[in-house]
Amino acid sequence: MFITFEGPDGSGKSTQVPLLAEYLRQQGFDVLTTREPGGTRIGDQVRAILMDMENTAMRPNTEILLFLAARAQHVAEIIRPHLEKGGLVLCDRFGDSTLAYQGYGHQVDLGILRQMLRFATGGLQPDLTLLLDVDVETGLQRRRRGGDEWNRLDASELAFHRRVREGYLEMAAAEPQRWRVVDASRPVEVVQSAIRAAVSAALPAPR
Ligand code: TYD
Repeated sequence: MFITFEGPDGSGKSTQVPLLAEYLRQQGFDVLTTREPGGTRIGDQVRAILMDMENTAMRPNTEILLFLAARAQHVAEIIRPHLEKGGLVLCDRFGDSTLAYQGYGHQVDLGILRQMLRFATGGLQPDLTLLLDVDVETGLQRRRRGGDEWNRLDASELAFHRRVREGYLEMAAAEPQRWRVVDASRPVEVVQSAIRAAVSAALPAPR
């Protein structure tokens, strides 16, 4: 089973994913956690280009191709092999991040992006996607408080982040069988129990 985590910046994915992984491992699942962009040696190199503050000249199309390059490598090298041996993969961001950020955020044509995503992933789709939803102001504030480096991507304006969030909510509403929306403005433990409940309901019985 392939489970992805999506959400605006500062929605708390990087806190929640390891907690869920620990819980699922205790239940006997063979869990692999990974994140995008990155997850492979090549992907981490691409990530460094994307996050470099000096790369202010980067065009939206360049950015898309870099995210997709990292993803193609990630799917082939890490995600598919683990799924093929019967494991469970938890991934912090995946294709829906490209649709939300580059599509809804930077307003690149969604139809073209979907085609490019199919090319990059070989058609791999998550079985379940958790949207950790938080309003834009809360998300960006959390981010700053956490002392996270204010990277190049974060420097875009509020309006951009609002479109991203709206995009996520729209995608979740359009495909309710795959998406679960979790209110991530609540305390960590409360959000974690909501995630566990949603995932447990979707999982096969552990071996
Ligand atoms: P990261 O520091 O990993 O942030 P987070 O902890 O919020 O996931 O940076 C990832 C940034 O890249 C984030 O702002 C979302 C953006 N992004 C895209 O714009 N498109 C994509 O396809 C992906 C995977 C990420």
